[in-house]
Parts: sequence; structure tokens; C-alpha cells
Amino acid sequence: MTFGGTQAYGEPSYWDKRYSQDPGPFDWYQKYATLAPLFNLYIHRSHRILIVGCGNAAIGEGMLDDNYEDIVNIDISAVVIDAMQKKYSNRPQLKYIWMDVRDMQRFESDSFDVVIDKGTLDSLMCGQNSQSNAGKMLDEIWRVLKDRGVYILITYGAPLYRLSLLREPCFWSINLHVIEKFGSEKEPQRQTWEVTDAIPLKEDGSFDTSVLGDKPDVHYVYVCIKDKSLRELKLTKEIKDEMVDND
Ligand SMILES: C[S@@+](CC[C@H](N)C(=O)[O-])C[C@H]1O[C@@H](n2cnc3c(N)ncnc32)[C@H](O)[C@@H]1O
Repeated sequence: MTFGGTQAYGEPSYWDKRYSQDPGPFDWYQKYATLAPLFNLYIHRSHRILIVGCGNAAIGEGMLDDNYEDIVNIDISAVVIDAMQKKYSNRPQLKYIWMDVRDMQRFESDSFDVVIDKGTLDSLMCGQNSQSNAGKMLDEIWRVLKDRGVYILITYGAPLYRLSLLREPCFWSINLHVIEKFGSEKEPQRQTWEVTDAIPLKEDGSFDTSVLGDKPDVHYVYVCIKDKSLRELKLTKEIKDEMVDND
């Protein structure tokens, strides 16, 4: 499934209607099985995990079955949250809360080890006021994460488009991974990149095309590690620059 046409992917009413008509389960882009080796690298079983824009995906259930212990899910669609609360009423480690990712005041700052986003930033990017909404979402994710906590963004968005967005408002160290799309028509003999190996990136966000080829048929996974020291460095530099200007 990809984003396409003129659907209002940024509107809650679009998602409510869609979830009323099609209760799922349905996972956008990738299922838990293909993501599991990557999650193993970055997430501990005892970590407090937040899945933003969970929809009716089975990824939370997959993680719970794989012994992750504490998974909070949020979505802006009341229809899907209601359905998921009923579906998993017997699995209290899997919590479903109706909430807008742009305003997560109910969660304290520095309270999650991991935030997982599969297709949610993408859906905001397809709506109106996309830049401002994406900025609010990323600020909130940065706020609720502990220092050194990780935001795992699974997206169709290539580095040229997503890295500038990620680097603008927040302070992350970023590793890029890729996973081949389902049903990819890639020639079987062509070497695929291991999901657990990070792709070396150039400063401008591009990468050597010999690594993946010109038009890689992949989903991108940005593993963004919250780094408060980067923000402090920037603030110190700004203060120093101001002092020099005032001399
Ligand atoms: C492309 S679907 C992805 C669903 C799920 N993460 C998956 O992997 O299958 C995007 C989801 O984001 C949710 N969403 C859109 N805007 C949101 C917002 N502002 N806050 C929380 N969830 C939102 C939608 O309701 C929808 O469930």
C-alpha cells in the first residue's frame, strides 16, 4: 500500500471512515517480521515504547508476542482506537489511547525509550499545512523521548526529503537503514542491503548510488537518537556568537 491520489490522508475523518469500512488488521509498508532484526538492535525488551499513529496494524501484537513488555499506542482516529481497545482487552501490556501526535500533553517529557512511526509522518506530510504539522509532531516526539531514546521512522521518504525535515527542529544523531518493499520486482541476483547495516550517508543526505542503485525499491528507516548535548552545543554557540556581535 502506498499513498496516492487525492485522498485526505492528513484528516482524521478520512481515517475514521476508512477504519469503519475496513477493520483490518492491516500493516502499511512492512510487517513486524521484517522489522524485528532492526528492532533487536535498538530496543530492549524492557523499554517503554510508544507507537504513534498505530492504526489497526499488527505490529504491536507482534512485538508483544516477541516479549517486548510495555507498548503504548496512540492514534487520532477514535474509531480505530475503540476497535483496538476491544480487540486487545485481554492484553494489558498493549495500551491504546486516542490522541493527536502533535499534542501529547498527557505524556510527561523524557518518559519513553522508543517511539515507532510507520507511515504517520508520511500521512501528515500528505495533508494541509504539512510542514507545520510535521514540525509539531517531531517536537512532541523529541519531548516525550528520554535523552538517548530512539525515534524509529519507517517511511517511503528518501533521505533528500526526510533528512532536512528531521534535522530542522530537533537534535538527533541519525542512522539510516533500508528494507526492500513487499513484492519488489528487483532482480533476484541483485544484492540486497542487510536491514541491520546502516547506510553511509553524505553530508547533504545523499548516498553513493553504487550502494543501492539509482532507484532503490525500498522503504527507509531513520533511526533518530535524541541527543540533548547537540542542543546544548547549539545554544552555547548562539550565546557566544551573540557576545561577539555585541563586543
Ligand atoms: C498510513 S497509516 C499507518 C498505520 C500504522 N502505523 C501501520 O503501520 O499500518 C497512518 C495512521 O496515522 C494516523 N494519524 C494521522 N494523523 C494523526 C495524528 N495527527 N495523530 C495521531 N495519529 C494520526 C491515522 O489515523 C492512521 O492510522
